[in-house]
Amino acid sequence: MSGKYIKNLLCIGAGYVGGPTMAMIASKCPQYRVTLVDINHQRIDEWNSDRLPIYEPGLDEVVRAARGKNLFFSTDIENNIREADIIFVSVNTPTKTFGVGAGMAADLQYWEKTARQIIACSESSKIVVEKSTLPVRTALAMERILNSNDKGLHFDVLSNPEFLAEGTAIKDLLSPDRVLIGSRLTDSGVAARQQIVDIYANWVPADKILTSDVWSSELSKLVANVFLSQRISTINAISAICEKTEADVTNVARAVGMDQRIGARYLNASIGFGGSCFKKDILNLVYISKSYGLDEVADYLHYVVKMNDYQKERFVESMLQAMFNTLAGKRICLFGFAFKADTGDTRESPAIYIAKRLLEERADLVITDPKALRNARKDLAGGGDHVTYIADPYEAVSGCHAIAVMTEWDLYKSLDYKKIFEKMIKPAFIFDGRNIIDHPRCFDIGFNIYPLGKPPLTHLE
Ligand code: UDX
Ligand code: UDX
Repeated sequence: MSGKYIKNLLCIGAGYVGGPTMAMIASKCPQYRVTLVDINHQRIDEWNSDRLPIYEPGLDEVVRAARGKNLFFSTDIENNIREADIIFVSVNTPTKTFGVGAGMAADLQYWEKTARQIIACSESSKIVVEKSTLPVRTALAMERILNSNDKGLHFDVLSNPEFLAEGTAIKDLLSPDRVLIGSRLTDSGVAARQQIVDIYANWVPADKILTSDVWSSELSKLVANVFLSQRISTINAISAICEKTEADVTNVARAVGMDQRIGARYLNASIGFGGSCFKKDILNLVYISKSYGLDEVADYLHYVVKMNDYQKERFVESMLQAMFNTLAGKRICLFGFAFKADTGDTRESPAIYIAKRLLEERADLVITDPKALRNARKDLAGGGDHVTYIADPYEAVSGCHAIAVMTEWDLYKSLDYKKIFEKMIKPAFIFDGRNIIDHPRCFDIGFNIYPLGKPPLTHLE
């Protein structure tokens, strides 16, 4: 504890989750000293600069208001662990790529390494909070490692999953639907939990702060992502039926979503969901189900991911079919590369799969995106001369045979499609993987339009 602050909070892992979350806590709780550490020195330098390492609407303002006052970014992990009262852990937990559970289970190596580092550097008992999404019962492993220390220190391990979505992180953090904090139901666990409740109570209404046992908290995060992603896979499955039956998936989603039991959100048909969480978390739960012998449960959940893969491939095949069964040598402009609008993040973006498949078909690609070109270059590094990156969409479409909309950026709704049409090779195609463009208007301009889950509008016989 240090002079002007009542507690030192530390977050290990200054990524998409740790960065915005701790910046919000710092801005709402001037009485706490909040520090973020990361093994990636470049990331920390960027957090300390005018150009933050991630793009998130409203984040710059929140960081600027607190940085240097009670919000600090540092690479000194050891000293900051020593001084911390509460440690949030937000290191990445990707899907394992090797050994048992490869392609499915969570890779917990960074997690365990962090636990060992906490023991090595600690000189006092601490609260450790899981922020990363983890398999159910990970807290138990964490507790066992931490409490095996020979310094006589006690660690309470809590689960406080983050539900923010990228692109709306600041809004979600400012007024969350709920904050969930799970702990052991021992005296020490409940007292530790109250300390985390006290942090959020600075700006979150009491009825939105839920407390539970630690296992339910860990599981709830995975389950929330299962529910959200299965809605998308369901509407995407329906989009395929719509294309065969001349129904319109937007009308179907509207009609279905007005049923209050169903609700209107997460019913936008798309080229598939992306992002660092959905696929990873479902596969994680599939793996856990299998490991408990719940094969039917595992198969059921696994289909959410399989449908998502099918939707991406289906999109490529419909492009191929519409463009006379050959894409070789054709120039295709991808509108957007981020996994969703308002972020520069491309992790698991459906655009990656689609771009790679189009390159296999020997198309030439032009990638345009207002925020994600830096990541797109890394994702398509093997594309060589067949991929170009152009920020200005009007320049990007020049000499192209087709546009394929990958990301639902607002920008693409209001472009001058007449001007765009004039710059393209005819017949000009638009494949709208997000259904955001004014289809009848673009059809009138002369485009052949292939939306998702709706009949195409085409001038071709
Ligand atoms: C992470 C997890 O991936 C996800 O499972 C969880 O739901 C939330 O936390 P995110 O913040 O998006 O998500 O990941 P990322 O942007 O990759 O940030 C993780 C950071 O941890 C990286 O900056 C990485 O350098 C850092 N890290 C990783 C450490 O500081 N120490 C390590 O040992 C490993
Ligand atoms: C998600 C969860 O929403 C969040 O609560 C959790 O903490 C992390 O995972 P995120 O991945 O940032 O957040 O974005 P989200 O807005 O949920 O979108 C995920 C993917 O689904 C995107 O690719 C998006 O384009 C797609 N999507 C979303 C659809 O295809 N259709 C929809 O109707 C909604």
